[in-house]
Amino acid sequence: MNRLLIRGGKKLCGEIDIQGSKNAALPIIAATILSGEECVIHNCPHLADTRAALEIIRQLGGKAECDGHTVVINNEDISASEICNELMCSMRSSVLFLGSLLSRRKKAVISYPGGCDIGLRPIDLHLKAFRELGVTVEETGGYIYCSLEKLKPNIINLLFPSVGATENIMLLAAVSDGETIITNAAREPEIVDLQNFLNAMGAKIFGAGSETIRILGVEKLKKVEYNIISDRIFAATCACAAACCGGDVVLRQVEPEHIRLMLSMLKDSGCRISSGKRYVRIQAEERPRGLGKIMTSPYPGFPTDAQALFMSALATAEGTTVFVENIFESRYKHVPELLKMGADIIVDGRLAAVTGCNYIQGAKISAGDLRGGAALVIAGLSAIGDTELSGIEHIDRGYEKIEDVFSALGAEIKRK
Ligand code: UD1
Repeated sequence: MNRLLIRGGKKLCGEIDIQGSKNAALPIIAATILSGEECVIHNCPHLADTRAALEIIRQLGGKAECDGHTVVINNEDISASEICNELMCSMRSSVLFLGSLLSRRKKAVISYPGGCDIGLRPIDLHLKAFRELGVTVEETGGYIYCSLEKLKPNIINLLFPSVGATENIMLLAAVSDGETIITNAAREPEIVDLQNFLNAMGAKIFGAGSETIRILGVEKLKKVEYNIISDRIFAATCACAAACCGGDVVLRQVEPEHIRLMLSMLKDSGCRISSGKRYVRIQAEERPRGLGKIMTSPYPGFPTDAQALFMSALATAEGTTVFVENIFESRYKHVPELLKMGADIIVDGRLAAVTGCNYIQGAKISAGDLRGGAALVIAGLSAIGDTELSGIEHIDRGYEKIEDVFSALGAEIKRK
């Protein structure tokens, strides 16, 4: 099994390009099923999750080819309505195929989706919305059987602004007869990217990025060529690493607006931040300062995906930071590993109090989930001595060769 070997303590300096967004790419790959014509997607990251999504397309009868970061998909011959259990379990976003498959085939059979072990992650909001749109849903024997005669346009009030449920409703209703409205919709940049992709295919969707999304159903979607947005959590990972390792890092191909809150928090912790059109520069000359309280919440609040990243960055800060994890109930799996490195962290339910120590030390540690794993890379980079990190298959689900990214910034990190 692969490991990352990290010799910590190096300052990070240089410029890097931020990869395309995983969380935008996955719903967009699912959306291609809505068209029988060729879809060309640029800036698609090479990740275990995007590979699994393309494999789902192939299993359903479509064609998917990669050339660098460009993916060409043709779903003219989609002929199946069932996604195999193995692919469903490989990632959470497999559930997004439910909406597009139902729209295209009027029938979809899936098992419950997998993904990071960070809490219960039910899909009740997706299924409730589907029922309200006229889908017959039967859950039996670990499988979900869905069928649809004709979509009944409706107003869907989401009880929580779920990213996946918002995307699934957009995918189901884009091709339909009538108007579907989502209220309390998720507002993440990836929702806006999905709207832009669908509209480039001929859909009529308005309001993504706000609480209300209007979907005017159209008859058919056509071919498209599209460029995926950059990955804001990848950008946050590099920014957090720079904050605690020190140095001078320029992130290119990034949308500063998508990470504005995180950047202002890193500024509060002592970094110098400047940004312009598609770049952000982080200069860290001093030990970071603790940030008091950080509460995760839906966008535009502080992202749950960045909680572990900031925890690693602030493990050696001057002062204390209390994290409140409001989105997922068990998202502190990285904490025992940070403790092995000498961090001072106390967890109580959804709270984690981090008292910054002068330094943390390299250790033999293991990643248990994607963002927690990336946080452990940050910890290894800032620690004194050597870190051996296992469980890196979790990190590969969301980061394209993370070791190359940090090596390019001057870190000593390799895969073995
Ligand atoms: C997406 C992101 C993930 C991020 C999360 C929250 C992708 C591929 N993944 O995941 O990286 O951490 O948003 O920003 O885009 N919930 C329910 N019932 C549902 C759906 C969700 O109770 O039917 C709950 C979840 O358990 C969780 C919360 O709502 O507590 C947020 O989930 P959601 O926004 O749906 O996240 P995902 O789409 O799974």
